[in-house]
This record gives sequence, C-alpha cells and structure tokens, in this order.
Amino acid sequence: MAGKTVVFGHRGYPAKFPENSLAGFRYAVEHGIEGIEFDVQLTKDLVPVIMHDERIDRTTNGTGLIQDYTLAELRRFQLAAGELIPTLAEFLTLVSNQDVQLNLEFKTNNIQYPGIEKIVMGMVNATPLRHPVIYSSFHLPTLKTCQQLAPNESYCWLTDQPVVNAAAFVANEHLSGLHLSHYQDDVPVAERIWTVDDPALAEKLFAKHVAGIFTDDFVGMTRLRDQKQG
Ligand code: G3P
Ligand code: MG
Repeated sequence: MAGKTVVFGHRGYPAKFPENSLAGFRYAVEHGIEGIEFDVQLTKDLVPVIMHDERIDRTTNGTGLIQDYTLAELRRFQLAAGELIPTLAEFLTLVSNQDVQLNLEFKTNNIQYPGIEKIVMGMVNATPLRHPVIYSSFHLPTLKTCQQLAPNESYCWLTDQPVVNAAAFVANEHLSGLHLSHYQDDVPVAERIWTVDDPALAEKLFAKHVAGIFTDDFVGMTRLRDQKQG
C-alpha cells in the first residue's frame, strides 16, 4: 500500500489569511498542518524574507522590488490585515521543533539573488527542525548550487512543463522529487502537485497516492485526503 499523500499549505493558509504571512503560518501550525510551502527571496541588505512575487505591489500597500529595499524599509509596508512581510528567521522560530514538513521554495526564477543558497541553508541548518526541509526551485542552477553546498539534502525541481524521460532526468540531476503542475505516471521519485484546490483533481491524485499536494485550503484537503486514504 502506497503511503499517505502529505497535504502542504501553499503559501501557508491563503484561503483564510494573507498568503505567506506569519498569521497564516501560525494558525496552520496550531491546527495541525502537515506541510508548509513558502517562497524565499532576499532584501537589498541580504535578509531572506518570505514572499511569492518579486514585487511587493500585489500583496502589500507598497510598490517596487524586494531587492531594492532593505529589511527596515520593507517593514514600512503591510500585507492585508496589518501583517508585515515575514523574515525567514521569524518563520523558522515559529516552526522550530514542530511536527511539520517544510518546503522552502527559492523564488529565483526571475531574479537570481547572489548567495541566497548559502544564507538560507545556513539559517535552516541552525534551526532545530523535526523533518528534513525539502528545497525546491523552478531555477535548476539554484538547486545545483545548493547541492554543492550540501549534497545530501532533498532537492525538488519545479516545472509546469511535461518532464520528458523523467527517470533519466532525476537521476542525472540527483533530485529527490519533482514538483509539478500536472500528474505524470512515470516519475520515479517523490511527486508533489500544485496547486490543488479542485476536489475532483485531488481525489484523482489521492487515488494515485502522490507524495504530496500543495493547496490553498489545507483544512478541506486534509479532510478529503483522510476520507479517501483513511
Ligand atoms: O511550490 C509549489 C508552488 O508554490 C509553485 O508555484 O508560483 O505558487 O510558487 P508558485
Ligand atoms: Mg511557491
């Protein structure tokens, strides 16, 4: 019998809280979330912060690129509900010693932040965590840099394209998983699918026992997973 699909909160719990906010992460941890996916970028003064977009325009009351602000400057802006942009340090404090799996996505597909891999992995390694972190990125060279720093961690490539000859690809790239926007039946390593908010799609993926799904509503999807997988 294949294992249970792990339900990851995509950017925390955006169905109820601002995406990638400490309030959402805190609620999720306090309510038994199994996994959290979150996106990391660097400020001008090289502080890792958690945000999906490279620009702050969509999710805050400010405008501009994260990389053009110091952390102190970024803190002048607010997410919805008065939340501040979280730092990775704040997030790691929140999840330390918690029974939650973490998927740290390096948001380096459009902007490559020099040195982000070493800064981020150093902070993660200094944090007491109960599960190994899964590192992912759309930008394969980011994962290659991470592998040089720490070859034994878990690295998953993100793509919204079909992966041709998946077995050879993951072997050549030394990946422990693929994070896909679609299901593939030829993936020989952990396969996690994003973003799964449609119950009909989720049921199909639960029937396949994919390793994980990323969803905006971890509460509803965990309930459905338990109904389908017991
Ligand atoms: O990691 C899964 C998913 O978050 C990838 O897409 O754009 O939401 O970061 P995106
Ligand atoms: Mg992401």
